[in-house]
Amino acid sequence: MHNPNLAVENRTLSLEQRFVQRFGGSPRTYQAPGRVNLIGEHTDYNHGFVMPAAIGFSTRVSVAPRPDRKLVIRSENYSEQVEFDLDHLPAARAGHWSDYVIGVVKMLMRSGKKLGGADLLVDGNVPQGAGLSSSASIEVAVGYALLDLADRGPDRSLDPPQISEADIDRTQLALLCQQAENEFVGARCGIMDQFIASHGKHGRALLLDCRSLDYRLLPLPDDLALVICNTMVKHSIAQGAYNQRRAECEAGARGLSKYLPNVRALRDVTPADLEAYGHELPETVLRRCRHVIGENARVLLAAAALERGDLQAFGTLMRESHRSLRDEFEVSCSELDLMVELAEQAEGVYGTRMTGGGFGGCTIALVQRAYAMTFQRKVQEGYERLTGCKPEIYVCSAADGAGRSV
Ligand code: GLA
Repeated sequence: MHNPNLAVENRTLSLEQRFVQRFGGSPRTYQAPGRVNLIGEHTDYNHGFVMPAAIGFSTRVSVAPRPDRKLVIRSENYSEQVEFDLDHLPAARAGHWSDYVIGVVKMLMRSGKKLGGADLLVDGNVPQGAGLSSSASIEVAVGYALLDLADRGPDRSLDPPQISEADIDRTQLALLCQQAENEFVGARCGIMDQFIASHGKHGRALLLDCRSLDYRLLPLPDDLALVICNTMVKHSIAQGAYNQRRAECEAGARGLSKYLPNVRALRDVTPADLEAYGHELPETVLRRCRHVIGENARVLLAAAALERGDLQAFGTLMRESHRSLRDEFEVSCSELDLMVELAEQAEGVYGTRMTGGGFGGCTIALVQRAYAMTFQRKVQEGYERLTGCKPEIYVCSAADGAGRSV
């Protein structure tokens, strides 16, 4: 019979305590965050620039080695447990949450890491389907945890730690996790989400060159709140529209490279190039290119604005980004546009735009912290009144990337 006391008691136990109850042993726990992108949307897979920040929502994984070749993975979110044999991993995705874990395991093994059996307990609070990268957060948390278990000797004990935080190649980790998503989960995402989940820093946004993977951390003022407004319209990039946008961008780069042989991706196209040769492209492809080329320029201007503390200028660039995503790239939706309009009307707002892949999910607003609560109340009320749907609004700060957790 259901015992409510047990349920309450269980919720108050830490993830490691729950691990010990279920699997025994002495686990270690790791976490990786979700993210919000401040500016630079649909530019990563065009070798361009992005500026995300990690947020306080995260996925945590407790893990301990097993003496055999089994992977036993339990999700606290789904209350489900699955088992795999490391020597007979599925060849194709199953359309199940465990795909994210198995994808990472396969890519780690392909990269030459020697993995042994393990028990994993996974728990996360990144809102799902909200465009805040819950998938990258589970991939990177699992990847980080398994790197710590990899290449151990025969006794495979967790002490002393195999690697220190400093030894983790975070860029390699991000690339492996992106491969897992591209090749196993089946979404052709760029590198942004896995990169920020691996490299995020408290109080900082990250300016990333998605071609060279060079990055710079940019300080965000303490009195600035990153306010994320969830339209509650579920977004999924595994669906066709994202991959279609990506194909249109590739078609644009291919088309332009006939006239500009140095063009490998839209990153290499200047506004003057597009002016000169854009008329050779199909109309839709031209509009997609216009967005990407304009957005790349906006990210660099936004970084300069942030570095000189000009949040008004940053806000103006966010507005232009939203318009371009809505009209040229066509990845917004009426709920996102409404959320942006409501945010624009609130006090203390520097700028706002849709964030992430689009077609639902969230907007981001940069708000003076002193106004964050009023902003939250006003936008919540307005959105609910006009749509009949209660949005979730999260007042966030930039958080750290993947690491050990307690
Ligand atoms: C999703 C993808 C990212 C990026 C954004 C759009 O979040 O996972 O790689 O392409 O969409 O900027």
